[in-house]
Amino acid sequence: MVTNVLSQEEVKELLHPVKDPFLHRTLEETDGVKEITIKEEKKHVSVKIGIGKTNTGEQMQLQQEIVGILKKNGATTVGLRFEQLPDETIEKFQPAAEAEQEKTLMGGGKQPNFIAVASGKGGVGKSTVTVNLAMSLMRLGKKVGIIDADIYGFSVPDMMGIEERPAVRAEKIIPVERFGVQVISMGFFVEDNSPIIWRGPMLGKMLNSFFKEVEWGDLDYLLLDLPPGTGDIAMDVHELLPTCKELIVSTPHPTAAFVAARAGQMALKTDHEILGVVENMAYFESKKTGEKEYVFGKGGGKKLAEVLQTQVLGQLPLQQPYEEEDEFAPSVYQQDHPIGKEYHKIASKIVAKIEE
Ligand SMILES: Nc1ncnc2c1ncn2[C@@H]1O[C@H](COP(=O)(O)OP(=O)(O)OP(=O)(O)O)[C@@H](O)[C@H]1O
Ligand SMILES: [Mg+2]
Repeated sequence: MVTNVLSQEEVKELLHPVKDPFLHRTLEETDGVKEITIKEEKKHVSVKIGIGKTNTGEQMQLQQEIVGILKKNGATTVGLRFEQLPDETIEKFQPAAEAEQEKTLMGGGKQPNFIAVASGKGGVGKSTVTVNLAMSLMRLGKKVGIIDADIYGFSVPDMMGIEERPAVRAEKIIPVERFGVQVISMGFFVEDNSPIIWRGPMLGKMLNSFFKEVEWGDLDYLLLDLPPGTGDIAMDVHELLPTCKELIVSTPHPTAAFVAARAGQMALKTDHEILGVVENMAYFESKKTGEKEYVFGKGGGKKLAEVLQTQVLGQLPLQQPYEEEDEFAPSVYQQDHPIGKEYHKIASKIVAKIEE
């Protein structure tokens, strides 16, 4: 038990090595110890601490840590206040902190470019776009992985015609490789496609496991196929992957685009960069006459891109992949298929945007 009363200098020294839970830097580096007052007779120490983000669970933990340190070193009572650090300080440390967080999530390996494929509405083609964008990136020579983050409505394995299950090596799950693309899906872990009923927190944990417990190796791109809407998973993605970029899929119907805008607004709110809009099921082209019919309306993608201040990266018509006897992959468009070529253009634009 220390009986001396702490001095200002000693308090500073004690608190300087403590880490800001958001910026992952010491309070010394962030200049986070803002005020120290000491009432000698009562051995009361009061401090004001600046951190990256206030009023969070992390702040509560930090509070306990600091009170513990000061009491162990002679304070009888501790008064603690938090404030947010100045914007300049946060801006200075945040990018590095975010990268560090993601690196830890990926097991310290190479940091891929994360792209989440989102839409406000179900059934517009997110999974189809994810799978085919992954294929095109792979054809461009990139190392690509897919996380099927649609935990309830997983569809990537079926779309790619995957029948294998992942192997486990040294307590890590090895993604299934299909056409050179690494895939992880909840569908690999349930029997007979039985539906899964989980609640919110479980979902977040699952997503976490898809990073932490999977041996991704070195990837250039990791694509996340999100469930429809702006629900829990989308929030978790925003939290887990601060550098994740978003690709928004919409149908050409103006109302559908309006709904998709909500997903986009959310991306904007969380500072996720929007790569662009893909308009799917944009038109139907008659094989006989070559005439385009805008069966689902027109202009939705453009309107959406305007709202989100981004661009339309491509328009995909309604058409199925060629049927192939030897390789069953019902949603994968071949390289020489007209839609396969469209995906190639979209992938090239994305690579140019990200790797410029
Ligand atoms: N351009 C297209 N031409 C023809 N069919 C398409 C096209 N795009 C998607 N589809 C089909 O539409 C259906 C819905 O597509 P998909 O599953 O990719 O949508 P989603 O947005 O992922 O749906 P969910 O919200 O349920 O996850 C699928 O059967 C898919 O094969
Ligand atoms: Mg889907």
